[in-house]
Amino acid sequence: MAVEQQTESERIRADRERFVARGVATTPLVVARAEGARIWDVDGREYVDFAGGLGCQNTGHGFSTDAIHEQVDRYLHQCFMVGMYEPYVEVCRLLAETWPGEAETKSLLVNSGAEAVENAVKIARVATGRPAVIAFDHAFHGRTNLTMALTSKVVPYKRGFGPFAPDVYRAPAPYPYRGVSSDDALRGLELLLKQDVDPESVACVVLEPVQGEGGFIVMPHDFPRRLKDLCETHGILYVDDEVQSGVGRTGPVWAIERYGVEPDLLVSGKSLGGGLPLAGVTGRAEVMDAVPTGGLGGTFGGNPVACAAAVAVLEEVRTPRFQAHAEELATTIRTRLDGFAARSRLIGEVRGVGPMMALEFTEPTADVATRVTAAARDRGLVLLSCGIFGNVVRILVPLSISNAELARGLDLLEDSLGDAGAL
Ligand SMILES: Cc1ncc(COP(=O)(O)O)c(C=O)c1O
Repeated sequence: MAVEQQTESERIRADRERFVARGVATTPLVVARAEGARIWDVDGREYVDFAGGLGCQNTGHGFSTDAIHEQVDRYLHQCFMVGMYEPYVEVCRLLAETWPGEAETKSLLVNSGAEAVENAVKIARVATGRPAVIAFDHAFHGRTNLTMALTSKVVPYKRGFGPFAPDVYRAPAPYPYRGVSSDDALRGLELLLKQDVDPESVACVVLEPVQGEGGFIVMPHDFPRRLKDLCETHGILYVDDEVQSGVGRTGPVWAIERYGVEPDLLVSGKSLGGGLPLAGVTGRAEVMDAVPTGGLGGTFGGNPVACAAAVAVLEEVRTPRFQAHAEELATTIRTRLDGFAARSRLIGEVRGVGPMMALEFTEPTADVATRVTAAARDRGLVLLSCGIFGNVVRILVPLSISNAELARGLDLLEDSLGDAGAL
């Protein structure tokens, strides 16, 4: 009897409890279908999507479907190491064409952001002949062993999972809202290079230009340049992690373009595959080619279907039309969020770059943000939090969203802030 009264969502959630590992975090949403910036659940309820599959739908749900269908009909898997295929080469060509600088680049394609970060470190180590890596406060670079060591949040990412990879050091990152300036961060890094690790044994630094999981913390404009100068002084490579901030998320293809800094290696992922698993490492040709043949790769890395999707995605996000729409969205989002902050005692800061924007609550606890994301779900808005303290609400809306849909989503966000007692 009780079973007959269950909704589809309840039935699938019960099976999820029974069969899926607890360690994988889930929300109650059970998806049936998605299109553009809208999601429908298995009970037919419609949602505005402000999460984009965790930043993987910059071009919108369904954008690459035609390219995917075409490739599926030709062939699926080959393994690039067995039989090469053009879609892989095309993605690498497009990554070279969209490279934020002058260098001639080459790329490697893999399956996930974490795998790409791991490979960037491998390449930097071989290219420099040095072992050490420097990551920053509030960093998130993944959940594999090496990237857990680089990631800067104990619960839930590190507790109990050690021992971690050695030769990883942590420097302070700027966080102006919490009182850490570029000067403070660079002083901390210089101290680290005096106290803990010889700069001559450092292969690379790894930095997100806008820290994603760490709380949408935007690096101040001078910081990447000053960090790059310090790297050049010591022969350290600059790895730009654009897994969350890249592929058009902030407007330009890569967020680092806003800083005018040319990295040595750039890591991409998330939206690159338009919803299929694909990530990349791109870098100066001589750095990439420091690794001998066979040292890089993997069975599924650069899967042809994911590459076909990525070609469509990269062609789209480099267009002036896409970038102009992103700027338009950014203005709308910023105006509305600033308006919320002006009426709220609980919102401490509105920040972001382009449409990659967030609200940080003053209290360093997850309470308010958790109430807001739950209220949003009840109202039909898919919304995520982030931050070391879980006190940041972030917007990762598909950038194909129409102005009217965005306005509706922001209305729902306003109502949800009200429900949570934050307005
Ligand atoms: C900046 C950054 N780097 C790396 C990763 C890891 O990517 P993945 O989850 O695909 O392994 C993420 C994921 O959120 C990320 O935001």
